[in-house]
Amino acid sequence: MPIDIIPLKTEMQARSNHLRNQGKTIGFVPTMGYLHEGHLSLMRLAKSMADTLVVSIFVNPTQFGPGEDLGAYPRDFERDQSLCRKEGVDMLFYPTASQMYGPRFQTFIALEQLPLHLCGISRPAFFRGVATVVTKLFNIVKPNTAIFGQKDYQQLRVIRQLVQDLDLDIQITSGPTVRESDGLAMSSRNAYLSASQRPSALTLYQALCQTRNRIENGLTDANALIQSAVSLVLSFPETAVDYIAICDPDTLEDIQTVDRPAIMALAVKVGKTRLIDNMML
Ligand code: PAJ
Repeated sequence: MPIDIIPLKTEMQARSNHLRNQGKTIGFVPTMGYLHEGHLSLMRLAKSMADTLVVSIFVNPTQFGPGEDLGAYPRDFERDQSLCRKEGVDMLFYPTASQMYGPRFQTFIALEQLPLHLCGISRPAFFRGVATVVTKLFNIVKPNTAIFGQKDYQQLRVIRQLVQDLDLDIQITSGPTVRESDGLAMSSRNAYLSASQRPSALTLYQALCQTRNRIENGLTDANALIQSAVSLVLSFPETAVDYIAICDPDTLEDIQTVDRPAIMALAVKVGKTRLIDNMML
């Protein structure tokens, strides 16, 4: 079955209205393309939860800061399309930037607290761009349920919060982080890594596993745990730590003692490539 590729917002809305009028539910997986097994796992989850599966591919300019990789972001629409077809995607929403953002676009969704932590510190406009585009995509695709990856934990928290705060009638489900066989979290940006940078990229996962082991052995001091994680990462070439944090899973505020559920999140630059990962502790 050929996949329906929909470039226009109005057409997507009309198709979604039609489905909903027929009593069909819509499951939605928003992406920026260059699909990998992480994205595909979310599609399978969405398919199991709804009658119709809609995927979007849109490299959203408003979530990239000046000097970030908007222009270089990897793209391969032909390959993405065939992966979507294999996963049984019913409709692929594939708009241009000018389709999404009109010339006088000026309305943004910005959260007050969650973006003050983790990735929001070094990427101050990032969550404003994500929250805005995801809200727009929700209004265009009109899903009953939307799936996001735990790999981008802060993004998932932001989306759950905005759905709650703005009373959006959409069920948000999360899917676990899919990893390469060595443990590296799958990411479209892994395409930037050279073979010699791979061991350095793997330190994110190694730091998470090391921390979990130390906690199992009775260590609870967050600062000490973070310091050893930083040392491990920096012992590999071409690494620079953006942040390594142990925080409350709801507020994302730092915690001092790991005596309750906590999440470790980190962002590390390997050469020019910024990678993130996280783990529940
Ligand atoms: P993108 O990075 O393409 O990711 C799309 C979805 O796939 C997100 O929900 C992300 O958390 C999930 N994902 C990425 N890598 C994963 C992995 N290894 N395992 C499981 N899930 C994974 O995140 C975005 O795009 C954008 O910010 C977007 C939400 C589309 C808004 O522009």
